[in-house]
Amino acid sequence: MLFLYNPLMNNFTKTPMPEIINILHEQLKTLAPKESLAFEVLNPDIATSVYAGNAVIIAGELYIYHGYKSWVDLAQILSCRMLTPTQNAAHTIIIRYEKLNADESFHKSIIDKEEKYGVTSIFGEIHKNEEPAFIAHYLKALKNVTINKRSRILNLGVNSGDEFEVIQKYISNFENMELVGIDYCPSAINAAKKKFAAFKNITFFAHDINDLSSLELGSFDLIISIGTLQSSNLDFNPLFMSIVQNFLKKDGAMVLGFPNCRWIDGEMVYGAKVKNYPFSEMSLLYKDVVFCKKYLQQKKFRVMVTGKDYIFLSATSIRKESEFNSSKV
Ligand SMILES: C[S@@+](CC[C@H](N)C(=O)[O-])C[C@H]1O[C@@H](n2cnc3c(N)ncnc32)[C@H](O)[C@@H]1O
Repeated sequence: MLFLYNPLMNNFTKTPMPEIINILHEQLKTLAPKESLAFEVLNPDIATSVYAGNAVIIAGELYIYHGYKSWVDLAQILSCRMLTPTQNAAHTIIIRYEKLNADESFHKSIIDKEEKYGVTSIFGEIHKNEEPAFIAHYLKALKNVTINKRSRILNLGVNSGDEFEVIQKYISNFENMELVGIDYCPSAINAAKKKFAAFKNITFFAHDINDLSSLELGSFDLIISIGTLQSSNLDFNPLFMSIVQNFLKKDGAMVLGFPNCRWIDGEMVYGAKVKNYPFSEMSLLYKDVVFCKKYLQQKKFRVMVTGKDYIFLSATSIRKESEFNSSKV
């Protein structure tokens, strides 16, 4: 790892954030991926309960305060990762940013479409359940739909089963549930089958979501689909409506996860990205979330939208028991 300790190292102890961004942005243009730069800032631990930008006076000198959250956020905004800071002078630390290698991402994978998300792909190295910004919101979404009261659960785009692992390990009543996972990636489905071989209440199918009806799966109390329905090989709106109409029980529930991030060089980077924009642009994400929300509301579901790096839509039926029973006949 190469650290570029500039003899004229940036001193940002008194610099406002817009200026810091400009300076670092220019300096990063001259660095190759994996190279680093360093800068000196006020030690954030010097004070507490201080919002960024406030003045802190030490020995009669005025400094501008920024907390660690600001420095971690800035690293991501500048396509860097923050390395461990080191203590410098009594009141300052040195922060180092390593420039991310944008080429190290499964988003750029050119292997065949079924194996793009296979076990040997870069995607196979991602463990979303270890990212707090994913798992905390996923668990909350499962709670929102009272998962422990759901018997038949379908996961579309289940990959190697990480989302089921959470249910198996952390949700009570798992043993009384029947879980079905679908994905057209053979290696991911094989890995899922192996991982859950001991659990007879979980079934996996290597199958195309475009042809769900041929599996004759029946209907489900809960349908989960994370990072899948927006895939380019799927026609989002008609597919979503047909899933609700044909596979979701009238009193069922849904958890949909929409990625609002990219996976780059070991980092989950905030912000959805679409083709033709070199930066994060979220129109498509919002359009799809709002489409599902409105459609489900028309069908008498209560819908909540939560999350950050993944946007979770959780929906539960608000049909009264009597209304539901009469509509079943
Ligand atoms: C971005 S990955 C998300 C996987 C997992 N839900 C997650 O969030 O980690 C999308 C998954 O959908 C699967 N997939 C995409 N199109 C599909 C299709 N038409 N039929 C079945 N699976 C599909 C891919 O193989 C992949 O495992």
